[in-house]
Parts: sequence; C-alpha cells; structure tokens
Amino acid sequence: MEQITEYLCRYKNYNFAIGTTTAEYIDSLQSFEIRDSDIILVTYPKSGTIWTQQIIISICELSGGLHEYPNNLEQMPWLEYREGREDYSLRPSPRLFASHLTPALIPPGLKDKKAKIIYVMRNPKDNIASYYHFSRVWVDLETPKSFEHFLEDYLKGNVGASSWFDHIREWHSKREQYNILFLTYEDMILDLKAAVTKICIFLGKNLSEAAIDQVVEKSTFKTMKKDSKANYKFLPQERVKGDFMRKGQIGDWKNIFTAAQSERVDRLLQERLGDLSLKFIWE
Ligand code: A3P
Repeated sequence: MEQITEYLCRYKNYNFAIGTTTAEYIDSLQSFEIRDSDIILVTYPKSGTIWTQQIIISICELSGGLHEYPNNLEQMPWLEYREGREDYSLRPSPRLFASHLTPALIPPGLKDKKAKIIYVMRNPKDNIASYYHFSRVWVDLETPKSFEHFLEDYLKGNVGASSWFDHIREWHSKREQYNILFLTYEDMILDLKAAVTKICIFLGKNLSEAAIDQVVEKSTFKTMKKDSKANYKFLPQERVKGDFMRKGQIGDWKNIFTAAQSERVDRLLQERLGDLSLKFIWE
C-alpha cells in the first residue's frame, strides 16, 4: 500500500485509512469464497450503512436461523477489515457483510448473482456534511482544518473510500453483473416501511405485516440511538469521540454549505454523473 497522507494509504486506486487492512488481505478477497446465502451491504461511507445494517439484521432475525452475535458489527462485519475476527470462511450461514469497496476489489464470486448485494446511496451534499462531522470524531481519519478543506479533499477523492462520484459510477455501471438492490437514504427517510418491504422482498423473506412493523420500529433513528447493539456506542471511546447516530436527516447540508459550495457540487454532479440520470432528494 502506498501511503498518500498521514492518515490514508492507497491500494488499487482505492484509499484506506492507514492500519485498517493490508494489501495481502484485500488481494485475498479475489479468491474469497462467496456462498449463495451471503448478503452484502455496500455503501460509500456515511450513506446510511449502520441504519441499513440494522434493517437487514432485524429482518433476518425475525425470519429465523441467524446465529447470535453481541452487536451489529459482529453480526455484519466489514468484508475488508477483519480486525482480529475469526476467518470468515468459518462463520455459519447466512453470513452478513458490510463493505465500502468498489466492484474492482469486491470478491468476484458475487458475479454468480446468487448472493445478494444491497447498495445504499445518499445525496452527496448530506453525504459530505455527514462525512465532515464524522471525520472530526473518528480517530482513524484526519481531522479537517475546516469544512472548506474537507470539501476540497472530498471532491478530489482524497478521503477514505476515495471518490464518491467514482463509487456511484462504478456500482451503477456494473449493476447488471450482480444481484443487487439499489436504495437511497432519502427514500428510506421518506418511507421507511416501503424500504423495509422492498428489502424483505429482495431477500426473499416473507414477513408478516406485524413483523415488518417491528423491523421499522427497531430501525427508527430514535430507537436505534438507544439500541446498544446498533448505535455503535460499543466501540472503544478512544476510536470514536462522538456519535454515529448524529442527526439522521435530509438537508442538514444547508447548515454548513455556502451557496457557492452548493453550486459547485451541483456542477460537478452534472459533469461527473449527469449521464446516469440519477435523481436526488435534497431536502
Ligand atoms: P448524519 O451524520 O447526517 O446524522 P453510516 O452508517 O454510513 O456511517 O452513515 C451514518 C449516517 O446515517 C449518519 O448521518 C447517521 O445519523 C445516519 N443514520 C444512522 N441511523 C439512522 C436511522 N435509523 N435513521 C436515519 N439516519 C440514520
């Protein structure tokens, strides 16, 4: 891995926080054995990962057959960071994983289209605002000198997980190669029950109306914030000096962006992803 800043290293065109994984381990994912029953949640950071994680776990728990783990991180660990966990090939099925990786780095076995991928995208302005706040509390990331500085780095892709624009383009353009469900953070905010139902159908889990309501209730911002298995307060305080569950809203970007910064993102979005005809909800 090539160290590119005090906090980031680059491998195969992708930025990792230093010390979180190794080139050898990332390479080993190329021969990682995917099982048909695997479920992989893929996001760019700060797009609603732990939220969707809670939804998927709750659905699988209610439909039965899930092995018990102490918290959501252990139930759905990162594919790219093993962090001292057991060899993933020893885990009981169904295995749930989270990942921020791009198609080039994700196990090619997923192209068999049997295992399922759920991809969650968030509007880039809220994504930037959330990532900025998170960078100030997550010790593996560089504390931004200012929002202006962070925005500059983000737009250049000089942050963990590299460029948001590339992440979206890569997954969007390769979607036909995978068994994948695309969701947006905003759709989940606007109609959580509809999103939960969509996920159930995609996962082939036939939950009753009452069970779906239970998943919705477990996944609201308010409930999750108090849920010690889901709110990530179980992480050691020396790693994170603030909350994963920060605001959980659409449009918080307005509290931090200037009009010029917002227009700059609009322009870039048009330039970089305009041809994909993606629709974003900004407020
Ligand atoms: P904010 O920083 O805007 O509040 P990730 O899990 O990918 O790191 O994303 C974190 C973002 O998802 C944070 O956004 C967090 O508050 C939000 N989030 C987590 N759980 C949520 C929930 N149940 N409802 C809405 N947003 C949630």
